[in-house]
Amino acid sequence: MTINYAHRGASGNYPENTMLAFEKAIEMGATGIETDVQMTKDGELVILHDEQLNRTTNGNGLLKDYSLKEIKKLDAGSWFSQDYSSCTIPTLKEFLELTSKTKLKINLELKSNIIQYPNIEEKVIDMIYKYNMDNKVILSGFNHYSMVKCKEISSNIKTGLLYMSGLYKPETYIKYVVADALHPYFYALNQDIITGIQKSGIMINTFTVNDEKYMKFFASAKVDGIITNYPEKLKIILGE
Ligand code: G3P
Ligand code: MG
Repeated sequence: MTINYAHRGASGNYPENTMLAFEKAIEMGATGIETDVQMTKDGELVILHDEQLNRTTNGNGLLKDYSLKEIKKLDAGSWFSQDYSSCTIPTLKEFLELTSKTKLKINLELKSNIIQYPNIEEKVIDMIYKYNMDNKVILSGFNHYSMVKCKEISSNIKTGLLYMSGLYKPETYIKYVVADALHPYFYALNQDIITGIQKSGIMINTFTVNDEKYMKFFASAKVDGIITNYPEKLKIILGE
């Protein structure tokens, strides 16, 4: 069955990457959650998409220049709606605390492509084991060096290679890198490319599919996971 991954939580209707967006995704019937992991100045793992605080909080500048204590004072909801001004940036711990009690599959994207957070791979993997989530989590990243590092630290934890488009023979490339899944932007795929990847027994989790026409296409192509801002719409299409 195709996994219905809520992208940054139920981010179409709630402020992305907040505990509210994750709780709502669960209520809506998502079977997975995708989220983005970064690190504060004092080495704490937190959930935020942009490297900059500006778009989704009332903070300024780079997340990496602030301590967790400072980060926790920020409002991460008002940019979306005044109703959500009490939302804060979650820690990875808070996120795993919630999701480890569910059957959800979790896709943790390591945001190690622009800022190279020291030892983020080791820290995230430690936390995954602490919460006994090794069978439920797939790590992903645009930085494939970081994905190789994850496999070296723990070959048991699944990894996925994120890419935008134009990757030539992805089913060959992934064998060279050594990972478990391809995480292409949905425009990078067509039926022929999907068939080639599936014949090689490699998983496909595609992002970010918000249009129902494309949801239907990828559902009928039986990809392993669809990452969407609208898990409630995808649930209907997947017939769950
Ligand atoms: O993991 C899928 C997708 O989230 C990758 O891109 O920029 O939305 O984190 P981005
Ligand atoms: Mg992401």
